[in-house]
Parts: sequence; structure tokens; C-alpha cells
Amino acid sequence: MLLEVEGLCVNYGRIEAIRDITFSVEQGSVVTLIGANGAGKTTTLKTLSGLRKVRAGSVRFQDRDITHMASHERVPLGISQSPEGRRIFPGMTVVENLDMGAYARADRAKTRTADIERVFTLFPRLLERRDQAAGTMSGGEQQMLAIGRALMSHPTLLLLDEPSMGLAPKLIQQIFTIIKEIREQGTTILLVEQNAAQALKIADRAYILETGEVVRTGTGGELAADDSVRAAYLGGDV
Ligand SMILES: Nc1ncnc2c1ncn2[C@@H]1O[C@H](COP(=O)(O)OP(=O)(O)OP(=O)(O)O)[C@@H](O)[C@H]1O
Ligand SMILES: [Mg+2]
Repeated sequence: MLLEVEGLCVNYGRIEAIRDITFSVEQGSVVTLIGANGAGKTTTLKTLSGLRKVRAGSVRFQDRDITHMASHERVPLGISQSPEGRRIFPGMTVVENLDMGAYARADRAKTRTADIERVFTLFPRLLERRDQAAGTMSGGEQQMLAIGRALMSHPTLLLLDEPSMGLAPKLIQQIFTIIKEIREQGTTILLVEQNAAQALKIADRAYILETGEVVRTGTGGELAADDSVRAAYLGGDV
């Protein structure tokens, strides 16, 4: 297993945001965490990025215990997050934002051209806007940039927090196609989504979170075909 999370508990003060969560991510797969608002999805990703302190449980990445490792040590290890709400640098251009994504890599100068080209191939829209201030781009374009920037660190594991949030249906489709392409290029993906239908379609394995706990797991196909999952998470479309 690339990532093994066991019995993870994270609090905000006395609030137990996630309780005793166990899941794993196989190398080369897409795993999705789905659940309602407040279920603990973002907290789980932030904890994997090292931005939240673990109260109990453990996180292993490539057979190494990283439970208490600092955030900046995880990026060179191969864990990179594209955060919820597209936190790009608004005053910087597209290309400058992409360069920021590679800052942790000592050999970045050698691969810079190829890396930026890879992002522009995945997101041709960003190529057209390469010198535009990122903050003036549309929400969807900023979302593409946030994903592109995360790819610049050559992640082994890419953490995506609601990449389809706020996007028009056509763009949502595009984002999911691109996620599949990124996986085909060898990057493992942990995807958090409220768009459960789309997420289950591309996921090798899915976990359903409810108020901080894992309540169901299965392959994407199994959960998408399950009546109770459909009723609760797929718009009641049974
Ligand atoms: N900084 C914080 N301080 C206090 N409580 C927090 C904080 N961040 C999150 N929480 C609480 O932790 C719980 C889990 O939040 P989290 O953001 O992980 O949910 P989520 O599944 O990502 O939801 P959404 O789908 O709305 O993004 C919620 O009850 C939330 O109110
Ligand atoms: Mg969230």
C-alpha cells in the first residue's frame, strides 16, 4: 500500500472532526472520500498534508511512519495537495504560480520546461493565459491552475479537495477526464468530492464519511450500484 491510515482521530479543540478513520490507498489507484458537508473530508486531507495535528492513530506512506511529520517535509516525500477553494497566488502569473509548485524540488531547473509543458497539455486554457495574473482568471481556470501547481512537485500521491466545486457541468466533465489522465501518467490520487456520482465513476475504491467516521467502503462501482448509497449521495436517484 502507498498510504495506510489507521484509527486516525483529529480534533478542533473539543470537536472531534474525524474519529477512528481507517483507509488505504493503493499505488496507481484513484481513491475517493465522499460525504456531506462537515463529514471530515477536508480535515482528513489537511492531516495527510501535515497541516492538522493527529490526536490518535497513524499515517504510513511508502511504509514509513509520517504521522507527526511536518508539512514541508511531506512535499519532497511525494505528497502534494491542491486545496479546497483554489488557493493560488492571485498577484502572480500562471507561470509564476507553476514555478512555486516546484519550489521543493532540488532538480526543478532540469525538468521545468517539460513540467510546465505537461501542465499546459493537460490544461490548454492555462497556456493561453500563461502571463495573466492568476487572480484575474475565472474560478474554473484558477481551479485548473491549483491542480497544475500541485503536479509541478512531481507528487507520488496527489490530494485533491473538491476539484469540481463551483464549476459548470462541461468543465466538471473535463476535470474528471484530466484526473483520469493524471492517474494514467502514474500519479496516485486521493480525491475528496461532493460530486459523488462522478467520483464513484472514476474511483477504484471509495470510502463514505459521515460525521467524522467511515461508514461504508467498496469499489466505486459497488457503491454506485448500492441503493442506500444512491438514495443518500446520488440525489435520491434510485
Ligand atoms: N478550523 C476549524 N475550527 C473548528 N472546527 C472546524 C475547523 N475546521 C473544520 N471544523 C469542523 O470539523 C468538521 C469537519 O470539517 P471538514 O472541513 O473536514 O468537513 P468537509 O467534509 O470537508 O465538509 P465540506 O464538504 O463542507 O467541505 C466540521 O464539523 C467543521 O465544522
Ligand atoms: Mg471540505
